[in-house]
Amino acid sequence: MLSKLLVFKPSYPVRIFAGLFSILIALGVCAAAGISDIAADTLKERDDQFNGRLIEAGANNYIQQCSRCHGVQGKGVDGQGPAISSLNFLGGPKFVNGKAEQDASGNVINFPSQRLKDLGYGGTIEQYVASVTAAGMPVKSSAIWGAPHPVFSNLYGGPLRPDQVDNVTRFVINWKKQPFTVGVIDSLKPGSESGPAPTPAPLTPAQEAGKAVYLGAAGCTACHAVKGVGNQGGTGPALSKIYADAKTIITSLEYKAAGGKATTPEDYIKESILVPNQYIYPDCPQGPCAAGVMPQTFATTIKADDLANLVQFLSSLGR
Ligand code: HEC
Ligand code: HEC
Repeated sequence: MLSKLLVFKPSYPVRIFAGLFSILIALGVCAAAGISDIAADTLKERDDQFNGRLIEAGANNYIQQCSRCHGVQGKGVDGQGPAISSLNFLGGPKFVNGKAEQDASGNVINFPSQRLKDLGYGGTIEQYVASVTAAGMPVKSSAIWGAPHPVFSNLYGGPLRPDQVDNVTRFVINWKKQPFTVGVIDSLKPGSESGPAPTPAPLTPAQEAGKAVYLGAAGCTACHAVKGVGNQGGTGPALSKIYADAKTIITSLEYKAAGGKATTPEDYIKESILVPNQYIYPDCPQGPCAAGVMPQTFATTIKADDLANLVQFLSSLGR
């Protein structure tokens, strides 16, 4: 019986057909498994590409229509417009050394928009951005702004089509993936203003001496800008409000995670000059700040009393 089975020999055409047929089936199984994956992948890819193109289109409109008042990075421009890329405004994850802050069970914490809470606005942040962009604001929310918000939708007489308003909104909301926390000029809380800002106090002799160090041979102005003081360098962060920024930074998780030791703004400023790589300030005018750009030699090239005066001068900025 067995021997009979073993000697069973189909004709060549049958064998060739069977062989081809099994190869076809094998190919079919592989292809079916592959195609469903590829189909899902390309759909998602196309979705992302489509969204990416809309955001890109929005970016162009943003640069043309919004950046002069809100800044290229949306971090706000003094006296022109508030930050619209900040954690306070958009909500979103808070980044510590490039990593999103997580809760105890490892889920990324998505902070809600503090601005919308302050305003008591019931809608979503998308709706708020779209409506301010499209229809402007009927009144100024603060005396620090020149005029009520411009209208942008051509439904209300502005320069943008409704689809362009949607794309600008997409572009702004895209910052929510990694909102800025330092160096931002957020809108003031409603009702928090107390009359016009006081006139700045004149500099003390020590601060004047420090200003001379800042303007002098150390070359700070090649990279940094202080409003109204010397060359406005655009490589390092602007230092016009460094005291106020330092106050925020020393309490931030980013700073503590980097091992920063300063507990006063003055100490932070001193540390930034003597050990620039201790904490890398995140946002420079051209994008993220790089380590090692700021000279690492000021501990030896600036004399102790010059340094003390320099720190006093910088500490007078943004009080
Ligand atoms: C002429 C300057 C100017 C231009 C141009 C401008 N804005 Fe504004 N924007 C402001 C000012 C000033 C405020 C704050 C107004 C207020 O609170 O009364 C503001 C507020 C906003 C807010 C609300 C911020 C908050 O904290 O409540 C959004 C969103 C916004 N602008 C988006 C845009 C977009 C998008 C564009 C471009 C299409 C744009 N703006 C163009 C000056 C401007
Ligand atoms: C070659 C460019 C360059 C020069 C020159 C330079 N800096 Fe900087 N500085 C940077 C860059 C880039 C950063 C941001 C990266 C970092 O934190 O090191 C920075 C950061 C700082 C910070 C921290 C800023 C913040 O907002 O937290 C301070 C303060 C500072 N510099 C002061 C000075 C002073 C004072 C001088 C002159 C004695 C000086 N820098 C010279 C490039 C420079």
